[in-house]
Amino acid sequence: MAPESHKTDPLERALLPMTASVGAGGRLVVGGSDVLELVEQFGTPLFVYDEEHLREACREAVEAWGDGVAYATKAFLCRAMASVAFEEGMCLDVSTGGELYTALAAGVPPQRLVMHGNNKSEAELSEAVSIGVGRIVVDSFDEIDRVERLVGRAGALPAPVRVLIRVTPGVEAHTHEFVRTGQEDTKFGFSVASGAASEAVERLVGVDGVELRGIHAHIGSQVFEVRSFERAAEILAEFFVPFALEELCVGGGLGVPYVNGETAPSQREWAEAVRSACKRVGLSESVRVSAEPGRSIVARAAITLYRVGTIKDLPGIRTYVSVDGGMSDNPRPVLYGSGYEAFLAREVEASRPRSVRVVGKHCETGDTLISEAYVPDDLVVGDILATPVTGAYGYSMASNYNKVPRPPIVFVRDGEARLVVRGETYEDLLRLDVVDDDGVRR
Ligand code: LLP
Repeated sequence: MAPESHKTDPLERALLPMTASVGAGGRLVVGGSDVLELVEQFGTPLFVYDEEHLREACREAVEAWGDGVAYATKAFLCRAMASVAFEEGMCLDVSTGGELYTALAAGVPPQRLVMHGNNKSEAELSEAVSIGVGRIVVDSFDEIDRVERLVGRAGALPAPVRVLIRVTPGVEAHTHEFVRTGQEDTKFGFSVASGAASEAVERLVGVDGVELRGIHAHIGSQVFEVRSFERAAEILAEFFVPFALEELCVGGGLGVPYVNGETAPSQREWAEAVRSACKRVGLSESVRVSAEPGRSIVARAAITLYRVGTIKDLPGIRTYVSVDGGMSDNPRPVLYGSGYEAFLAREVEASRPRSVRVVGKHCETGDTLISEAYVPDDLVVGDILATPVTGAYGYSMASNYNKVPRPPIVFVRDGEARLVVRGETYEDLLRLDVVDDDGVRR
């Protein structure tokens, strides 16, 4: 939790994308582009990603973990993002047929993909097996049956299907209940404590056409405490050692600061903590210890720009500042009570003494972006209000609630702005409506 005193301070630079700077008159510049000019060109709401930040974050992950570290695409995926992660040396974790399809459409070779999912369909598994994805992370006994059937049916595959077994180490990560996954009471993986994980290993070891490479676990997301990762790594490594397998993947989960005053470990600190925990319990140095960061690669790389449409002062109650997006482009505050900061794109370094509630344009009271935001005194209707650290689980969880079109995404780098996902149009909102034979839309 951030101490109270930080709230009204100017926005901390550590919450902005890496290349962010303050330009003429105090305006925000990212990747060499003045964000107010981007708004003129692309409108609002607008997601702006700092491409150099994305690339640097991928490089840091590869440096910290080595080859095999995978970007968890659920955090943010479009073709441009898949290409960036691949080009910078990461594998890609895909957890559905749709994520798989998008990564392939970006030209990522199947061998660089890790296929996840607690309930992979027959079609998803069959696709993964036939194109030869790098790893399939097996999550249930039903899935083991399916893999056996598919491999048997496929006959001679060019290479064995390489699998990891997802296990639950029984560690309670200190994070929101909905994103906690390492505990015993979970839909994911095989429990180490109950013996299910050992049974899964025994079953997969002898299957023809399947190469069991190792095990995988993911204890939760937005985890700030290295101790939680260490504890999980110790349990995993203890379980792992007797089987003499080759790979241990500790999943994702590294937390990121969202508001002033928060700090989080780096990729390197996370990797070092995990590695030394593994060493303490006797894991051989030759085992590939790896991870799957999502949020920590993309969250800070982006900001969202909104236009303020109305400011409503309710005397003695509070002030509502309404922007032209909301829970459809960022459902995290509603889903998890997540905190964000707000600042004016025209005066990044201004102090923010005024307490307001930033809300969206959706037709429900719950549509809050920032329940208690601090903004400069001179905020007026028409201003461009920015929320930083919106690069993860924002667009990827966006919806069309109230038929609000999803915003465009631009990547900025070296003064160039590249539209990578266009904004939806009203026509897009109808594209799935079925037109009857008589040509009438119903
Ligand atoms: N690997 C696995 C198997 C996962 O389930 C996840 C996230 C990751 C890696 C990446 O975790 P990260 O490094 O991004 O924490 N929608 C929530 C987060 C859900 C995370 C689900 N799994 C949020 O907005 O906070």
